[in-house]
Formats: sequence, C-alpha cells, structure tokens
Amino acid sequence: MNTSALPDLAFPGRDKLIAAVDTAIAASDHHAVTAALRNSMCALIRDRDVQLPDCVFDPIDDHYARRELYRSAEHGYSVVAMTWAPGQGTPIHDHCGLWCVEGVWDGELEITQYELLERDGERFRFRAAGGMHAGPGSAGSLIPPHEYHTITNASGDTIAISLHIYKAPMENCSKFQPQSDEWFLRIDSTLKTDNAPA
Ligand SMILES: [Fe+2]
Repeated sequence: MNTSALPDLAFPGRDKLIAAVDTAIAASDHHAVTAALRNSMCALIRDRDVQLPDCVFDPIDDHYARRELYRSAEHGYSVVAMTWAPGQGTPIHDHCGLWCVEGVWDGELEITQYELLERDGERFRFRAAGGMHAGPGSAGSLIPPHEYHTITNASGDTIAISLHIYKAPMENCSKFQPQSDEWFLRIDSTLKTDNAPA
C-alpha cells in the first residue's frame, strides 16, 4: 500500500493531535476507544499548540465543507474537519455503521439524535429523541446502531468548525428524505471531501 497518498495536512500541533488519537485508539473496545477519544478531543480543542489549517476556516457557499486532515495507515481512522456557514446543516443521516467522535472546535452546533421507530423497506420512521446545543470544547460520540442524527449551525452570523474522528474513512452513508409525518425515505449517498491544500 502506498501510504504517501493518504491525506496528511501540515498544521501546528498535528503531531500532538495524531499522538493523542493513536493513544486513545489503543483502548480495548469501541466504547473505551470513543470515551478516550472524547476526552482527548476536549483537551485538544483547548490546547493552544493545536491550530487547525487555514483552509478549515473557509466555508463553501452551497454545502458544509468536509476536509480530510489525516488518515492513519496504521490504525485506519480518518480525521475530518467540517466547516459550517450560518444555517448550513445535514439531513437525518447514519454513519454507515462506523463509530465517530465529534468535537466543536469553534462556533456552536445543534445536534439532534433520532430514534428509529419502525422500518418498511426503504421507508424509515424516526422521532427526535433528544438533542444538544454544543459549543467550543465539547465532544460527543456516535456508536451504531444509535447513529441517526442531524447537525446544524443554527447561528445567523457565525461560522462553526467541528472535528470528526471516524473509525475508517466514511465514503458513503444513508440520508433520509422527509416524506409525511415521521416517515423518511432512505437515499444512498456518496460523501465527498473538499479540497484541502497540503
Ligand atoms: Fe454525522
């Protein structure tokens, strides 16, 4: 495998961030790994040695930006920074069965979790099952099957930045299109990453 092709952006504190994730990922199972990563994420967000690359602070007009900062050849995980212009957000989606730890680096995000009530083929019935308004320095995790959620930057004037560590690169997922009442149609979706100059 040619590991030189894996995403690996240079930024202040990059080595510290990767070392912290590598340590957390060595925990025994995915519950322990995500708990350790949440702690590491909270510490990293507050650590002034770690400055995410400039591109992360550039929103993209017509969609929230996903920039992969690093992918581990050894452990397989992927670190993605997302940039949310005011009002940008996601539909209900899943994470393709991958655990993920997400931290708010800057700004504020609304995260709503959905409970799957029933399923009829590709039609899913969801109900909002709680949410949180997350500010800088907060981190949460998603562990399948509890993975249906939306993320929105509800601010009218402030950009939000979040950092996501996935068990493996998430290249597709399911998105859910509202139909009627609590019913949604599942759509297979390919996730793209935006250019992140090295
Ligand atoms: Fe998500």
